[in-house]
Amino acid sequence: MGEIRVAELFAGVGGFRLGLEGYSDQARGWDLPAAGPYRTVWANQWEPGTDRRQFAARCYEARFGEGSVVNEDIDAVLDEYEAGEREIPDVDMVVGGFPCQDYSVARPLSQAAGIEGKKGVLWWDIYRFLRIQLAKSEGNARYCMFENVDRLLKSPARQRGRDFAIILSCLASLGYSVEWRVVNSAEYGFPQRRKRVYIYAERGASWDADGRLTDGVMARAFPMEPPEGISHVEIPADPYEATQSFNIGGRTSPFLEAGVMVGNVASTCAVTERYGGPRATLGDVLVPDSEVPPEFYVPPEQVPRWEYLKGAKRERRVNKATGFEYSYSEGAMAFPDPTDRPSRTILTGEGGTGPSRFKHVIARPDGRLRRLVPDELDQLQGFPRGWTDTGMTDGQRAFCMGNALVVGIPHRIGRAILE
Ligand SMILES: C[S@@+](CC[C@H](N)C(=O)[O-])C[C@H]1O[C@@H](n2cnc3c(N)ncnc32)[C@H](O)[C@@H]1O
Repeated sequence: MGEIRVAELFAGVGGFRLGLEGYSDQARGWDLPAAGPYRTVWANQWEPGTDRRQFAARCYEARFGEGSVVNEDIDAVLDEYEAGEREIPDVDMVVGGFPCQDYSVARPLSQAAGIEGKKGVLWWDIYRFLRIQLAKSEGNARYCMFENVDRLLKSPARQRGRDFAIILSCLASLGYSVEWRVVNSAEYGFPQRRKRVYIYAERGASWDADGRLTDGVMARAFPMEPPEGISHVEIPADPYEATQSFNIGGRTSPFLEAGVMVGNVASTCAVTERYGGPRATLGDVLVPDSEVPPEFYVPPEQVPRWEYLKGAKRERRVNKATGFEYSYSEGAMAFPDPTDRPSRTILTGEGGTGPSRFKHVIARPDGRLRRLVPDELDQLQGFPRGWTDTGMTDGQRAFCMGNALVVGIPHRIGRAILE
């Protein structure tokens, strides 16, 4: 097979690219294997806000070279691309982890008018990118790989599964068959628990949907036990119709952890993972304590505050704006975090010295408590140690890793696609 030309949308610090292309830097001792002959020929990354917020794009450029990423709002870029005022190379594959928002169309449009996305709802930029690529050549964008939070299968609360039905409907209308799978990285040996939905789409594929659940790309990349039951979901042919009518009144989403859509019917099932390989833990990515700067240690006077935030509570609280009093309760979190297991999910707010329920804190042999350093966060996501050490603050490095993905996941999917 020849080279597979890839466009990476919402590229962040390049998680998809690393997983697919691999990366070598002998001087730094970095050697990530490629998943196959993938080559990223175009990438886009823009953090809403000012120039100061473009640290992820700068990291991407520092690692992949000057000009490797277009650092502009994807919406503006595609306006120009659509108008023929900007060149984007033809690609075989489109990848991206798009921010999850509300996917509904902006206002009731007539069916004939087709769908029109709200500005800033970034699924529509992916859809637009695919549409323009396909208009240029039918052979373009044959493969897609997307990542999102697993909530995407269930949102929004008042119409469970609608957003995902819209996405499936869009892909079907462009001629794609689709596999999806919720993967918790720790279940396949990675050192972090992170549950995300991965979507693989292939154009012009004629799969047997039920069979594909157990022998498709996702099942090869992430083996599972035979499903106990498979259900079928009709996907509206028109995304607008999906918006209006999908699962109205339904209390649960019909989309389970694994699924395959061919034509406009999806087969879906729950998943029990099958994995017998090695398992990594948080302890495996820790750097020597002698390399940890003092500000990462929790000052003894701050420990009670951390304990309170991490602890179980049931208390009366007052909404400051409205004066409304309500009862608030939450369970206890492990404190400190165990190092002999995979870590909890890294969030964008992981950085900074302020106590927080969600930041990781570990106990050291000398009894002191400390937060995780950015080099450890890089490695919890499967990036080489120091990947984000490109002039960012610690808080910015943590933010990038909270946004990123477990590099080994697209790597395994990329390998399975080639198989
Ligand atoms: C979930 S993150 C993806 C991270 C990436 N997969 C990685 O490995 O780092 C989504 C990214 O989309 C970017 N983004 C948000 N709005 C955008 C826009 N309008 N145009 C381009 N990129 C945008 C964010 O800055 C963020 O880096």
